[in-house]
Amino acid sequence: MPRSVALGPVAVLLACVLIGCDGGVKGAAGASGVRDPYFPKLGNGGYDVTHYGLTLDYRPAGRKLVGKAVVAARAGSDLSAFDLDLKGMEVESVEVDGKPARFNRSGDHELVVRPRDDLDEGASFTTVVRYAGSPATITDPDGSEEGWLPTADGALALGEPTGAMAWFPGNHHPGDKATYDITVSVPEGLRVVSNGELARETVKEGRAVFAWHVGEPMASYVATVAVGKFAVRRSEGKGGVPVYAAVDPTQVADSEEVLDRIPEIVEWGSRTFGAYPFSSVGAIVEREDDAGYALETQNRPVFPGAPGVGLLLHELVHQWYGNSVTPESWRDMWLNEGFATYAEWLWAEEHGGDSAQEVFDLLYAGDYFDKKSDNDAVWAFPPARPPSAARISDSPVYERGAMVLHRIRQTVGDEVFRGILRGWAAAHRHGNADTGDFTAFVEAKAPGADFSEIWDEWLYGEGKPDRS
Ligand code: TRP
Ligand code: ZN
Repeated sequence: MPRSVALGPVAVLLACVLIGCDGGVKGAAGASGVRDPYFPKLGNGGYDVTHYGLTLDYRPAGRKLVGKAVVAARAGSDLSAFDLDLKGMEVESVEVDGKPARFNRSGDHELVVRPRDDLDEGASFTTVVRYAGSPATITDPDGSEEGWLPTADGALALGEPTGAMAWFPGNHHPGDKATYDITVSVPEGLRVVSNGELARETVKEGRAVFAWHVGEPMASYVATVAVGKFAVRRSEGKGGVPVYAAVDPTQVADSEEVLDRIPEIVEWGSRTFGAYPFSSVGAIVEREDDAGYALETQNRPVFPGAPGVGLLLHELVHQWYGNSVTPESWRDMWLNEGFATYAEWLWAEEHGGDSAQEVFDLLYAGDYFDKKSDNDAVWAFPPARPPSAARISDSPVYERGAMVLHRIRQTVGDEVFRGILRGWAAAHRHGNADTGDFTAFVEAKAPGADFSEIWDEWLYGEGKPDRS
């Protein structure tokens, strides 16, 4: 029989410090990640965020950010502790429901919060984090830079796939979307551009304050803040979607013509994919050196230098596929990139360029890209199964993902295919979905059709599929 162990008060105290006893045994700690196949520590278990209220103050000269994050959430289980994702930055205080909470930092980016009182399953609770520091620029597994990027005249926040944790604490996984209010003050003379709509703009004591409101759910990887000098172009698009584009003064001449086409693209997208999902649209055009790539930040994609029509279209189509219908995990990236790439093919087909069939044939023949290695790279891995985090934005996810969609079109015909594009955007509007949801959706729209070869060989299969 095991000997019963009587713990002395000191041992109990020590155990409580280590594992936490304040809530008795009722609540457990929320998990430190949601087991994303590529980024297991991204996001956190035990709660769902409903709203982020971010109040930030940024001084480009010292690269100093002072922040207050008010995170409204709902507990998914009884909780004695939970994590937020935050990389770097000094945390000054944490409160939960108005009471000071204990907290510590752990791992690469976990902010562990222990509320004074346990949280009950289903309870709504509000966490306030006050923090400050110089936000990090993060180098991704594929070598690209995201997070908080200092620019020629300010800064730019880019968050795919993990960069949001550099500038605010949150549940930074695409599976937890929320609404936002993002208020940023900067030195007078600079502007701040973010997601959603500009609700307020004021100047007080040498500081310019910009308040942006995001009323539709947003994944944190498409949240952005751009600080700098910008020429602002506002217009009312066809169908009434307001356009707010912010352009670095050095890029105004080169971007005027292409940005004029935003309403036309939104209208084409609405016809092709269903109603535009957000209450405003636009673009942020920075200098070429400010970022290494374009990103579909919600409402207002970011471009390093004036984009061409194809790239502008690609990022705007992500508003439907990516930002409204958001991947369940980073493994489902092709649901973003395959669709945005296929949209480029469809646009070309309808505007006097190659048909999607012609693009498909060139890719299959290995004659699409100039370099043989680029043509071969299309077949490196299955679109729905990238081999590692470093490969989630490689060619199979884009081109071969688009080829999967074209194979579906070949199988069901144009009319049913168009219904699938629109229906998919409608079925998961402002939600999340994964590859299994998509294949089931397609099968339901075309009863009797056989998709087994497309799924087995094109979507999940290794190597170049036989043409059948
Ligand atoms: N989503 C961007 C696009 O296609 C590309 C991109 C930028 C990306 N950063 C990334 C893709 C990080 C995957 C991971 O427009
Ligand atoms: Zn894309």
